[in-house]
Amino acid sequence: MSLTSDFERIEGVLRLVDDLSSEAPTADRLMEGITGLLHEKMLKYNWVGFYMLEPGTKPPVLVLGHFQGAMTPHTRIPLNQGICGAAASSGKTVVVDDVHRDSRYLACSLETKSEIVVPVFVRGVVAGELDIDSHFPAAFGMEDRKLVEHCARLVGKRMESA
Ligand code: SME
Repeated sequence: MSLTSDFERIEGVLRLVDDLSSEAPTADRLMEGITGLLHEKMLKYNWVGFYMLEPGTKPPVLVLGHFQGAMTPHTRIPLNQGICGAAASSGKTVVVDDVHRDSRYLACSLETKSEIVVPVFVRGVVAGELDIDSHFPAAFGMEDRKLVEHCARLVGKRMESA
């Protein structure tokens, strides 16, 4: 393993994600592949997982889907809880540089320092999200945001064509 720059690493991973997207037969397999790829290739992405809105549940709840990393106690998250709930209810990417300074944060691992959550849209409506935790503070810069938003967009598009 070599220490390439963040930019070079992310450019390479973007290409791998696009390859995966054209090969994955279903949205489910694409989500599984994305969690594996990001967890393996992005050294600061220590937990990578999808939460999807459970169809028909009122009030709405996010349910843990494919993930890589340690098991989390948060397998079902209502929209009024956590950074996950904030991203899904606002429909906006949430980046938290220091989770211990954010009162919304639901702890998954004692080692987590920063987090990014990106909503997945299907026909303009939030269907779920891609959540990534890092053991490093402020691990998610603009390039990371672009990568994770790209992954979420690919999943949304695949779900639209299902
Ligand atoms: N930290 C998230 C909960 C999910 S775990 O990180 C996997 C939150 O605050 O919503």
